Amino acid sequence: MKGIVLAGGSGTRLHPITKAVSKQLLPIYDKPLVYYPLSVLMLAGIREVLVVSTPRDLPAFRELLGDGAELGMRLKYAEQAEPRGLAEAFTIGRDFLAGEPCALVLGDNMFHGKDLTELLLNAKARVETEGGAVVFGYPVQDPRAFGVVEFDSRHRVVGIEEKPEHPKSKFAVPGLYFYDGQVSDIAANVKPSARGELEITSVNNAYLDKEQLSVELMGRGMAWLDTGTPEGLLKAAEYVEAVQSRQGYYIACLEEIAYRRAFIGAAELRKLGESLKKTAYGKYLLSIADEAEEI
Ligand code: TTP
Repeated sequence: MKGIVLAGGSGTRLHPITKAVSKQLLPIYDKPLVYYPLSVLMLAGIREVLVVSTPRDLPAFRELLGDGAELGMRLKYAEQAEPRGLAEAFTIGRDFLAGEPCALVLGDNMFHGKDLTELLLNAKARVETEGGAVVFGYPVQDPRAFGVVEFDSRHRVVGIEEKPEHPKSKFAVPGLYFYDGQVSDIAANVKPSARGELEITSVNNAYLDKEQLSVELMGRGMAWLDTGTPEGLLKAAEYVEAVQSRQGYYIACLEEIAYRRAFIGAAELRKLGESLKKTAYGKYLLSIADEAEEI
């Protein structure tokens, strides 16, 4: 399975912060925002990832993440000329995907919590073995800004509505989706919505129409954090700081995940730690390399 991080958009809710800088490069406590969604793909065991962003911002992502070799990954880059909608990721990524299944994560979505890895591995395995699509449902107090899942009286999913004024459930669909190899063809047939966007909800409903959509509900133990507004950014940073300082485990430390997923070995991890050793982040990497070498 391949991965796509969609990290374009206009970030208008964060102006003036994002007038000259990509939202997904802003810091969330001690690392750039894009590390968090990229870490989710890595936790799913995905090593080949396409990063999509605006013509303005793509060079900065390339500078930050490079070709991925240091992490034992293969990273590619592609431009989205205009923010025409999330479904465009699959037409931009058609050659990259080459008909393989893929996971799409939005570059500003953060997930953390118990069972996240299991949830990801299950979704990946399901799409790889059975085909179709897996998306998630996450309970939020006000789902009106999201795609919202509609259930029938027997709890079966009957539709997803994009940004409904009167939501039919409290389950929003977060920015993490798993699709089989049909997705580029399905996305190519999506027509712009009333607000002029190529909606991911249209892709999901196309799978639903074919009875090939599974919606997995995320439970209480999962954090899905909003980073689209100044308040959201601050709260997300506070969350990361609180968990990391309390537990001593980092959230979305790409080098650690690469090591634990065996994308790289302890010697490579140590080298990465050395290059950052003035920071707590670098010292954390060195402490994991030390532990590895003690065993
Ligand atoms: P949004 O939050 O819908 O939009 P935005 O990031 O441009 O912000 P704002 O509403 O403040 O203007 O986007 C969700 C994610 O998807 C975000 O990471 C940006 C990304 N995105 C694209 O990369 N391309 C697109 O065409 C769209 C619509 C979003």
